[in-house]
Amino acid sequence: MGDGTGEQYRAVAVIGGGVIGASWTALVLARGMRVTVSDPRPDIEPVVRAGLRAVAPTLGELGLDVVALVEDTGALVFESDLAAAVADADVVLENVSERLELKQRVWAAVEVAAPGDALFASASSALTATAIGERMRRPERLVIGHPFNPPHLVPLVEVVPGARTDPAVVDRAIAFYRAMGKSPQLVKKEIPGFVANRLQAALFREAVHLVCEGVVTEQELDRIVTGSIGMRWAIAGPFETFHLGGGPGGLPAFLKHLGKSLQEVSWPSLGAPSLDEPTVALLSDQAQHFDATVDQLAARRDQAIVRLMGALRQVPAQAPE
Ligand SMILES: NC(=O)c1ccc[n+]([C@@H]2O[C@H](COP(=O)([O-])OP(=O)(O)OC[C@H]3O[C@@H](n4cnc5c(N)ncnc54)[C@H](O)[C@@H]3O)[C@@H](O)[C@H]2O)c1
Repeated sequence: MGDGTGEQYRAVAVIGGGVIGASWTALVLARGMRVTVSDPRPDIEPVVRAGLRAVAPTLGELGLDVVALVEDTGALVFESDLAAAVADADVVLENVSERLELKQRVWAAVEVAAPGDALFASASSALTATAIGERMRRPERLVIGHPFNPPHLVPLVEVVPGARTDPAVVDRAIAFYRAMGKSPQLVKKEIPGFVANRLQAALFREAVHLVCEGVVTEQELDRIVTGSIGMRWAIAGPFETFHLGGGPGGLPAFLKHLGKSLQEVSWPSLGAPSLDEPTVALLSDQAQHFDATVDQLAARRDQAIVRLMGALRQVPAQAPE
């Protein structure tokens, strides 16, 4: 498969076949590439194959070819030996557990066994490319490609270079994720949690505060988010939203009229809860009241994401004249 820049991807090595690795495997197979999964778990093959069967209908709905997800076409192989798994890879996607020492060890081994021009990306959600690449001879080859669960559906991939990452690797990673149908976004500085998870953490902190204070329950808070800011944010992010909130004067007018109260009233009143034992017990207890099992909720979410993406595709990228 090409990325529009002339680069061809035929073989992808997926290192770590857990939640994220299995999801990348599904997407890469559905985009017509060969995948080698490397994971020491003894039951990795049945687990990944069951995962692929489970997500095949959703990817099929998106118009992708899912034959290789449900039949043994030879496009998917499992190879527990890391060096053998990456030996002919065009791209290495690492999704092993989030432990620095493990990721450093894996990448030091990958770089000596993979072809010299293979693209290297780690899905790490918090560890940086600078830290992960510390034991590599050529850390300039490594970049973070941080997806959102499930990566076969959610469009964003945060592409975060380390201190030594070659800018050409960043460009190649962005082109690769685009070729996979993703919306890659360059994050220019390494910062803990990158961008989307920091935003999520900020909102979650206040959500925990509101539930702990008894202002709303978890279920009520979730309905508030999905029925208001969540729905809007799929179309216009926080800045565009407030740009629209400022009337014809846009964001400058919004900041002029409401900035003072935001700074003096709203921001100082935000909570800073701690996840101590009673708080965790309260949050866990309320989580018993969701109206379905985790699997059922995940299936409903995935179906809704597919339909939402279809609906968003109908909206013109440019505002009407
Ligand atoms: N789960 C999420 O929502 C999410 C989202 C974005 C990024 N991430 C990141 O993706 C990575 C994987 O997360 P996950 O949620 O899939 O974890 P997971 O625990 O589901 O999967 C990790 C897999 O790595 C395997 N593994 C361990 N050592 C290995 C080795 N030496 N070689 C190959 N495989 C090995 C494990 O057997 C396991 O199957 C982490 O860096 C995580 O931060 C996770």
